[in-house]
Amino acid sequence: MTKVTVLGAAGGIGQPLSLLLKMSPFVSTLALYDLRLAPGVARDLSHINTNSKCKGFDKENLPAALEGAHVVVIPAGVPRKPGMTRDDLFKINAGIVANLVAATAKHAPNARILIISNPVNSTVPVACETLKRSGSFQPGKVMGVTTLDVVRAQTFLSDALGGDSYSRESMKRHVTVVGGHSGSTIVPLITDSKLRAKLVNRRLYDAYVHRVQFGGDEVVEAKQGAGSATLSMALAGFHFTNQVLRSIHLEPLDVAPLPAFVYLPGIEGGRELQAKLQTQAEYFAAPVQLSRGDVARVESQWLENITDAEKKSLATCLGELDTNIQKGRRFVQSKL
Ligand code: NAD
Ligand code: LMR
Repeated sequence: MTKVTVLGAAGGIGQPLSLLLKMSPFVSTLALYDLRLAPGVARDLSHINTNSKCKGFDKENLPAALEGAHVVVIPAGVPRKPGMTRDDLFKINAGIVANLVAATAKHAPNARILIISNPVNSTVPVACETLKRSGSFQPGKVMGVTTLDVVRAQTFLSDALGGDSYSRESMKRHVTVVGGHSGSTIVPLITDSKLRAKLVNRRLYDAYVHRVQFGGDEVVEAKQGAGSATLSMALAGFHFTNQVLRSIHLEPLDVAPLPAFVYLPGIEGGRELQAKLQTQAEYFAAPVQLSRGDVARVESQWLENITDAEKKSLATCLGELDTNIQKGRRFVQSKL
């Protein structure tokens, strides 16, 4: 029996993500919480003929939404408008994430917390610092969701190579993304050297990397002020959440590990990765091995095969990432 709670469930991401979760055989109870509309969204989903029970919770009922949750997914917060950076969302979303994570620590202290709200590079440190303050920080249970970057990196690689001969499905084996979740902190790694060479030879590599790093802007601009990626994010968020759920139910996992943005010093392999990257940055997105729904190990062997161009992108990423991380940490520490 697994309870999943979605905080921000009536939003652009929350609704389709909740729909996908309603279809998952690993979910027995789906709790939807939002400041508005969650009971309506939940009633709608509750008519679907899958076995999970779905219930909505309004503003006053956050404790009940969280009680007994095994996994808490947080897409609550404001999205970007054209001309804004993700960092521009920090002022509002940091407070939202801090409050929701503090409530999770109180009412579902053992839940895995999956953070979607932007800016992820800062909201994950906000979440971890909040949990440290409440004395209930378990590093393996907090994951920043960066799966949309992986989904984009695969789609755009197929597009760049010519989709007919290089299907999007087949790209799943050949590219991953590490670093963070904004602009140049997003570092795509093409693991198949032949595919990488094809892009480089056709002078498409730089444009490809740029498109992965700024793919979010494409959607923000196309939506003309009505928000950012919601449907592709719901799919990506579902992939990640379902991998966590699969790891709770079907250990050991038989699928390639997805990256997540995690607190390195608290996770096996994390200090080794920091040392190899020669960085003080305490948070980083890299492929993670899950065990019983928690991050058991962060991988670093991907570093062995990266190119000089990818090393350069990593160096740029690390410079920017630490500034984002410190901003999140300071936000919580300044409230002491
Ligand atoms: P949205 O405005 O459509 O929905 C957000 C929902 O959060 C709303 O329903 C709102 O009522 C709710 N909310 C706000 N404050 C809340 C609180 N204190 N408690 C509970 N619910 C609250 O926005 P969206 O398009 O769904 O995006 C949500 C967030 O996800 C944004 O910050 C966006 O930047 C981020 N995002 C992240 C990724 C990623 O890859 N990690 C991708 C896309 C979007
Ligand atoms: C994305 O990558 O689509 C999200 O982070 C939303 C955004 O603001 O771009």
